[in-house]
Amino acid sequence: MDSLTTTAGTTKTEASSKSHDTLTITDNRTGKAYEVPITNGTIRAMDLRQIKTDPNDFGMMSYDPAYNNTAACISRITYIDGDKGVLRYRGYPIEELAEKSTYLETAYLLLHGELPTETQLKDWTWHISHHTFIHESIKKFLDGFHYDAHPMGMMISTIAALSTFYHDAKDILNEESRRKQTYRLIGKMPTIAAFAYRHTLGMPFVYPDNELSYPGNFLNMLFRTTETRYRPNPTLERALDVLFILHADHEQNCSANVIRGVGSSHVDPYSATAAAIAALYGPLHGGANEEVLRMLLEIGTVQKVPDFIKRVKTGEVKLMGFGHRIYKNYDPRARIIKRVAYEVFELMGKNPLLEIALECERIALEDEYFVKRKLYPNVDFYTGLIYQSMGFPMTMFPVLFAIPRTSGWIAQWQEMLLDPEQKIARPRQVYLGHDTRDYLSMEKRS
Ligand code: ACO
Repeated sequence: MDSLTTTAGTTKTEASSKSHDTLTITDNRTGKAYEVPITNGTIRAMDLRQIKTDPNDFGMMSYDPAYNNTAACISRITYIDGDKGVLRYRGYPIEELAEKSTYLETAYLLLHGELPTETQLKDWTWHISHHTFIHESIKKFLDGFHYDAHPMGMMISTIAALSTFYHDAKDILNEESRRKQTYRLIGKMPTIAAFAYRHTLGMPFVYPDNELSYPGNFLNMLFRTTETRYRPNPTLERALDVLFILHADHEQNCSANVIRGVGSSHVDPYSATAAAIAALYGPLHGGANEEVLRMLLEIGTVQKVPDFIKRVKTGEVKLMGFGHRIYKNYDPRARIIKRVAYEVFELMGKNPLLEIALECERIALEDEYFVKRKLYPNVDFYTGLIYQSMGFPMTMFPVLFAIPRTSGWIAQWQEMLLDPEQKIARPRQVYLGHDTRDYLSMEKRS
C-alpha cells in the first residue's frame, strides 16, 4: 500500500479500531489503497469517486445497467428475500395479510407504517369511499377513446388528466395535500378502471356505491346491469380483495422505480402515477398476466406443452409468468394465488386453460433449463386464469394489477419525498460515443 485515503474524516487506524465494517480497495493502476465504510451491507457509490489516476481524473464510478446490484434508496416499506421466497409489508408476512387483512387495511399499513386502530380504519375507509366519484368532464374525456382502446392506455391518460383537475396536488411538500391526493388516487382508480371497461362494451357507466366494500364496489361498477342494488358474490369479492393485497407493493420494481424517479422532479402525484402505470403496462412487468393467457391460448392443448417448452428453451419464446429478477425461489404470492384460483373455480367452474398451465409448471419445475436458471412461476402465472373465470377480458388484467399497486406507489413516492438523502434522480453514463468531430457537409456524407 503506497498511501491510504479514508472517508468520513477517519484515519485507517481509527476506523479499524472502531470496527471492521470497511472495505479496502487497491487501485492497481496507481498502487493506492482506499478504505471505505460499509453500512447496511453497502458501500456508497460516491466513495468511489475519490479513486483517481491523477487530480484531473473524474474519479471511479460503478456501472450497473438495469440496477442489478444497486440500492437506490433506503426503504422501510416492503421486504423481500428472493432466495427464501419471503415477502413482508412493514414486517407483516404476506401470507398473514392475505388471510386476515383487507386491501384497504393493507393500503393503510403500507402508507402509515402501522396497522390502523378500529377508528383509524373507519376514518380511512370513509375518506377513500368519499373520493370514488370522478368529475363529469373526466367521464367525457373517457368517452373520447375509441371503442377498442386498451384500458391500460385509458388508465395512463386519465390518471395523468386528473392533474389538470386538482391544482392543489402540486403542493407535494404539504402533508395535508398529499393525504388528499392519496384518498383521491386510491378512491378513483377503481372508478376509472370500471368506466374504461364499460366504455369498451358501450355500456352506461355505473356510479360508485359507497355502502359496498372496496372490491365490492369495483365489481358493482363493472358488472351491474338492471339490478336496483348490486350485491357482489362474497367469494369473488374476497378473492379480489386477496389479489389486491398481494399486488399492493413489491419494493423497488420497475414501476416503483419509475414513480420514485419521476416524482423526484417534484411533479404532482397524478403525473407520477400515470408514469408508473405506463411502466406496469409492459409485458415484462404487470402486462405479463395478459401475455400468460395469450400464451396458454396459443398452446391450446396439454399435448402441445412439450413442444412449446422446447421453443422456450431455444430462446424463440419466453414462458410468460415465469422468472423474476428477485425471486430465485417460488414467488410466495403465486402460492397464495393458486389457492385462490381453486376457490374461484369451485364457484365459476374450472378454467379449461388450467390443465395447460399446470402442465407448463410441472415440466418447467423439473426441466434443467428452468432449474438451472431458478425460474419459478411468478405472481402473474395464475392470476390471468382467475380473472378470466371472474369474467374479465384479457385487456383488463394489467388494470387489475394497477388498482391495488397504487397504494404501494404512493407509499414509495412519499418515502422518497421525505427522505433527506434523496434528490432529483439523475444516473451517470459511460460515454463511448465519438469524440469531438467537425460538422460534415451534405456532399461529403456517404
Ligand atoms: N422464459 C424463458 N427463459 C427465461 C424467462 C422466461 N420467462 N425468464 C428468464 N429467462 C432466462 C433468460 O433467457 C436468461 O437465460 P440465459 O442466462 O441463458 O441468457 C436467464 O433466464 C436469466 O434471465 P434474465 O432476463 O437475466 O432475468 P431478469 O431478472 O433480467 O428478468 C424477468 C426477469 C423480466 C421477469 C424475466 O424472467 C421475464 O421476462 N419473465 C417473463 C415475463 C414475466 O413473467 N414478467 C412478470 C414478472 S413479475 C412482475 O413484474 C409483476
